[in-house]
Amino acid sequence: MISLPFRKKTSTVGLDVGSSLIKMIEIDHSGDVPRIVHFGMNRLLPEAIVEGEIMDRNLVIDGIRECMEQAGITSNEVVSAVSGRAVIVKKVVMDKMAPEDAQEAIFWEAEQHIPFDIDDVCLDFQILREDIGANQMEVLLVAAKKDMVDMHASLIRDAELTPKVIDVDSFAVQNCFETNRFIDDFEVDEDAEMSGGRDEKVIGLINIGGDVTNINIIQGSSPHFTRDISVGVRSYIENIQKDFSISYEQAQAVISGDLGDLDEDRVREVISTSSQDLSMGIERSISFLKAAGDAENIEEVVLSGGGAHIPFLKDILSEKHGIDFSIHNPLEGIDYEEGVFGEYEEDLDSIAPLLTVGIGLALRKAGK
Ligand SMILES: Nc1ncnc2c1ncn2[C@@H]1O[C@H](COP(=O)(O)OP(=O)(O)OP(=O)(O)O)[C@@H](O)[C@H]1O
Ligand SMILES: [Mg+2]
Repeated sequence: MISLPFRKKTSTVGLDVGSSLIKMIEIDHSGDVPRIVHFGMNRLLPEAIVEGEIMDRNLVIDGIRECMEQAGITSNEVVSAVSGRAVIVKKVVMDKMAPEDAQEAIFWEAEQHIPFDIDDVCLDFQILREDIGANQMEVLLVAAKKDMVDMHASLIRDAELTPKVIDVDSFAVQNCFETNRFIDDFEVDEDAEMSGGRDEKVIGLINIGGDVTNINIIQGSSPHFTRDISVGVRSYIENIQKDFSISYEQAQAVISGDLGDLDEDRVREVISTSSQDLSMGIERSISFLKAAGDAENIEEVVLSGGGAHIPFLKDILSEKHGIDFSIHNPLEGIDYEEGVFGEYEEDLDSIAPLLTVGIGLALRKAGK
């Protein structure tokens, strides 16, 4: 086939296969600002994916195909991601060396840090700080269980798509956050660069999905600590459903902000008690930061995912942890074609946080 230069691909399709919703987003990178040109979202039945595990493959494959059609996406190449306990992200210190040599050495290093058999994982790494003194460097190690990555890739292939990159949900959230926060006023702070971003604010990025919550604590553009916990919107919905003896669908509406005639104080109470596991996850992350000597506290938390708009949650967590919590808007710094969100256009603010992972994936330029 002849490849014409002006046919060069300028867009990326992000495919976020969530346990509740499949999202597909195509971003065109040819302009100054990334621009969403196609979008599709498709709800999955609760039994299709449970805690990141695919229970009904065909439901998910059909869901991806429908999502693609709805979005009007024609490119078959996608960037997707995995998450959950089978992904391990760790910061390690090792002898200073060139990235080419590190490639080899990282395997030996990983064996000491990863609780899985090294032959069973896909490894990747990034040098965070080239020189931390004593001839050492700081490296971010990412390991994902091979069988899970392979399963995700084969699921995508069965949906007749090509997985160009398999990323990690947490990093997609970070990518989206950084693009939005820095796109207008990005200035390279040379002092911060020299210190590996250590003079910058410590920010917690918390993506609350249907079943899994991704916690990623960053400073500058480096993650200090990344962990996925098995807490999600589903447990809030179930608690509301039980407490008020209402249907799953009604409880889902409450979670999205429609309280109907339910008693506000009682809803707040149920949300507060349902937040204990999430709060514990936040506390543990802070303890970990302190123990590692990375930071004393998180200075700001940015929420995303379907759980970001759970009524009262932002305030409950702010009060409990004494940290400023805000809700991420992944559309703030990027463009989108008019009408691209179809039926969701009217209610864009409410669905925007759900799109964070999908947008973060589609923000990866082809080949990067
Ligand atoms: N406006 C909304 N529209 C649709 N779902 C919403 C909305 N607001 C909140 N939700 C809730 O968000 C949840 C889905 O969030 P999200 O898309 O982040 O999760 P997911 O990616 O499917 O799950 P996971 O990442 O855990 O596998 C659903 O359970 C839904 O109840
Ligand atoms: Mg998700």
